[in-house]
Amino acid sequence: MVKLIIAANWKMHKTGAEASAFCTRFRDVDKRMAGIDLLICPPYTALASARAALEGSAVKLGAQNLFWADKGAYTGEISPVMLIDQGVEYVIIGHSERRHIFGEDDDTIRKKIEAALTHGLKPILCIGETEAERASGETTAVLERQLESALEGFDDGGARNLVVAYEPVWAIGTGKAALPQDAESAAGFIRQTVKRLLGTAAAGLLRIQYGGSVSAANIADFTSLPDVNGALVGGASLEADSFIDLVEAAREAVGS
Ligand code: PGA
Repeated sequence: MVKLIIAANWKMHKTGAEASAFCTRFRDVDKRMAGIDLLICPPYTALASARAALEGSAVKLGAQNLFWADKGAYTGEISPVMLIDQGVEYVIIGHSERRHIFGEDDDTIRKKIEAALTHGLKPILCIGETEAERASGETTAVLERQLESALEGFDDGGARNLVVAYEPVWAIGTGKAALPQDAESAAGFIRQTVKRLLGTAAAGLLRIQYGGSVSAANIADFTSLPDVNGALVGGASLEADSFIDLVEAAREAVGS
């Protein structure tokens, strides 16, 4: 059994003071959560405040993106080395907002995965189909293409640190979560594909999150699925009290 991982993706929300207030409220929740890894992914500018407020807590820190070079003439970008310097352990890569609003393609995402693994950061690779792709029966083809282009050729040592978030684009921020059986079937397909690409050991260790309109009311439907090992949470992670309710609901469901 791999450990569940529940991550807060704050997107472009919260100043340093707001991040600090949230983390001060949230930091002791992990004491009741022995069986679940908890992760907060603030915007870059709030990493330092979140880190300070989480000091001594087992709640981990993640970033929402990175650039693949260590340093150089890349105005506006942030490198893996800089993230590590800020105490970051995980990094979200290929989120659908990066793919669709900022034009990140499969090649860009592969470079970012490689940079994260090279530096010992744990990537959360986000994949998922659009509404149109789903309607035309292309879901597994899309997931397969996104996984192959991001992961093919890496060794299974790197994969030990990998998390894949299955986030159907049509479910993100819409209040319309996937049906649990659809999330399970996508997660099962993801695990099989990772097994083909990276081997049996990597597939067994892989943690697969479901993301897209996860809330305190539905989290248990997803964390109880055999191939789903956690959630990537956007909107429902912005208020400390409701995010605490969400992780408590997951804990009750898995009995940790
Ligand atoms: P949501 O976002 O929970 O607001 O749907 C999830 C995500 O984009 O990671």
